[in-house]
Amino acid sequence: MDLYEYQARDLFESYDVPVLAGIIADTPDEARQAAERLGGGVVVVKAQVKTGGRGKAGGVKVAKNPDEAHAAAEAILGLDIKGHEVKRVMVAEGARIAQEFYFSVLLDRANRSLLSLCSVEGGMEIEQLAVEKPEALARVEIDPIKGIDAEKALEIAKAANFPEELQQKVADVFVKLYKVYESEDATLVEVNPLVLTEEGNIIALDGKVSLDANAEFRQAGHAALEDKAATDPLEAKAKEHDLNYVKLDGEVGIIGNGAGLVMSTLDVVAYAGENHGGVKPANFLDIGGGASAEVMAQGLDIILGDPQVKSVFVNVFGGITACDAVANGIVGALEKLGDKANKPLVVRLDGNNVEEGRRILNEANHPLVIQMPTMDEGADKAAELANAR
Ligand SMILES: Nc1ncnc2c1ncn2[C@@H]1O[C@H](COP(=O)(O)OP(=O)(O)OP(=O)(O)O)[C@@H](O)[C@H]1O
Ligand SMILES: [Mg+2]
Repeated sequence: MDLYEYQARDLFESYDVPVLAGIIADTPDEARQAAERLGGGVVVVKAQVKTGGRGKAGGVKVAKNPDEAHAAAEAILGLDIKGHEVKRVMVAEGARIAQEFYFSVLLDRANRSLLSLCSVEGGMEIEQLAVEKPEALARVEIDPIKGIDAEKALEIAKAANFPEELQQKVADVFVKLYKVYESEDATLVEVNPLVLTEEGNIIALDGKVSLDANAEFRQAGHAALEDKAATDPLEAKAKEHDLNYVKLDGEVGIIGNGAGLVMSTLDVVAYAGENHGGVKPANFLDIGGGASAEVMAQGLDIILGDPQVKSVFVNVFGGITACDAVANGIVGALEKLGDKANKPLVVRLDGNNVEEGRRILNEANHPLVIQMPTMDEGADKAAELANAR
């Protein structure tokens, strides 16, 4: 889960990382009040969206007084930044910036390790710097057992060419940022820019934090950081039932068992769709090993709840869960759903106990179920039906 900047700011503050005051606002009036509460002086109004490059997109504006903050919020709220609509801004205390730096610590999967990136040339051009001047971006491997202690932090500051008199100051902040990374089970903590102010203070002005969902079981506080309103309602419902569901943009609902099979089903359906008006898969849904009637019903219920879905392709390869159990699951699910099941269901069964599975479906003779013998034929049928409706 990625955090909004204001959430990262709050988290940093709780770990004693130096940050500036910031207040969120959902309307221009709230932005004006926030600026007043911050003392009525210079503030920066910042779009809260989970994507980078906000500044360049017009999502970060300096305001000299509360009236300007109102106007800035008016201009920023509703902006579309790389497909993210701005619904909220943060009104932050304005810093007098002398210099901008870059710091991050992240999970380095390829090397089974952690990595810190750091540069004295931070700011909005960091991506360009990484490409055009990679030597200006220090890369320091972090031993996940030892983490960033005082010594490692100083090594990073030196590798990034911080001037002698700043090294200790920034190193102290690196140690705190690593505490955030470790204690919160993050996979990324990035500060861009980390600034030196005219007053000589080091401050984290912008933070990006990604939290590891696999650690949710021991991070009770993380659930509160979730943005329920931004999560797709179907995805939220799937999550409640522990189903691996991802909403996509097409018309053919997909259910399969095993992530690999479902991935290839998406490909085959997209390919088949080219012959049928360009229809596409509507979702990813892996019901895993136990395709019981209950799981099948929950899966179908979610897929049929997507108004874009015109047909459903159930693609199951019987393994540990045999095809007869899956067939019974489908029959049971259709019974459970009753009138809610209202779109054609193309079913391809193969593998363990396939004859019995097909027999069960034939016998049930449900008007919505169409059996196809192979994955390709099933995909073609489902695409054809989606296009016809
Ligand atoms: N509180 C502040 N006071 C003064 N200037 C600020 C403040 N916050 C941001 N800025 C200026 O605005 C620039 C852009 O801000 P910020 O890094 O938060 O947005 P960004 O565009 O999202 O950057 P990124 O590309 O890293 O996502 C900063 O580099 C800094 O110069
Ligand atoms: Mg930034």
